[in-house]
Amino acid sequence: MSAARALDDADFDLGRVTSADGVAELARALYGEAFTPTPGVLHVTAIDGNTGRTLRIDERAPKSQADTFALNLTRARADAIIITGGILREEPALSYAPGAPGPESEALRAYRHHYGPSGPPLLVIMTRGAGLPLDHPVFHDGHTRPILYGPASGVLPLRQETDAEVIGHTGDAHLGALLTLLRERGATTISVEAGPSTTRALYAGPVPLVDELCLSTYAGPALEEAQLVGDPLRVPPELALAEPEVLTRTASGPWRFGRYRRR
Ligand SMILES: NC(=O)c1ccc[n+]([C@@H]2O[C@H](COP(=O)([O-])OP(=O)(O)OC[C@H]3O[C@@H](n4cnc5c(N)ncnc54)[C@H](OP(=O)(O)O)[C@@H]3O)[C@@H](O)[C@H]2O)c1
Repeated sequence: MSAARALDDADFDLGRVTSADGVAELARALYGEAFTPTPGVLHVTAIDGNTGRTLRIDERAPKSQADTFALNLTRARADAIIITGGILREEPALSYAPGAPGPESEALRAYRHHYGPSGPPLLVIMTRGAGLPLDHPVFHDGHTRPILYGPASGVLPLRQETDAEVIGHTGDAHLGALLTLLRERGATTISVEAGPSTTRALYAGPVPLVDELCLSTYAGPALEEAQLVGDPLRVPPELALAEPEVLTRTASGPWRFGRYRRR
């Protein structure tokens, strides 16, 4: 595999892009000329290159416009996005408006219209039910169609408190069963945005449950323990880089971007 290509992080400023084709061009710049939005289970995540651990998403996290673009690109492709109750609690301003956490991007909206599924994506929130912030904006901003998913005993009582669909799993819920359920409902592109304790299950079995890993790697100076979460992510040998990584420079340090696909 040849060396990483270097690009300017500001090239991925969605404010400069005005059309679906402009977004498609940026996608090829980030992930290579062969990039096409093929269906499958996508895992999109940002890790620390020094430790391989997941970046905690808060105001202290290193920022990259290319990473924001990577996240928005998978969202624009997705029939369903999987997150967790823990993420809603930690990110009270989390938004699925196209372009978030940056300004709303009409170009991304047009990209979804042209290349993605119609209508807003399902937003599946894995939770055991206790302490779920049902007043979070995702439940009423219209950018997604929220669904609560978890053990029946924990989530079914929430039907009294929310208009969102609630799906109870017999026994402890898990990501594999959820992916099967979403496929049975017709979802062909499923983006997993959950944190490391949940997404470890994607790689735990002999065959990874992931078809595509969109990996953003912060490669700057060492971070503090409080900025990291979970165990290191080890990319399994069944996944291979589709194209050489792209390198960008930001105020917080360099980042690498790679798209791994099932061999
Ligand atoms: N850098 C990145 O790409 C990225 C991406 C995502 C998250 N993060 C970071 O990761 C951290 C959270 O990660 P994490 O691994 O601790 O948490 P997580 O993956 O968000 O999973 C923990 C939460 O998932 C729910 N959950 C877990 N297992 C479940 C099950 N079997 N059934 C139903 N619900 C279940 C629980 O929600 P309830 O508590 O509501 O029951 C629990 O709080 C945050 O700091 C966030 O910033 C980073």
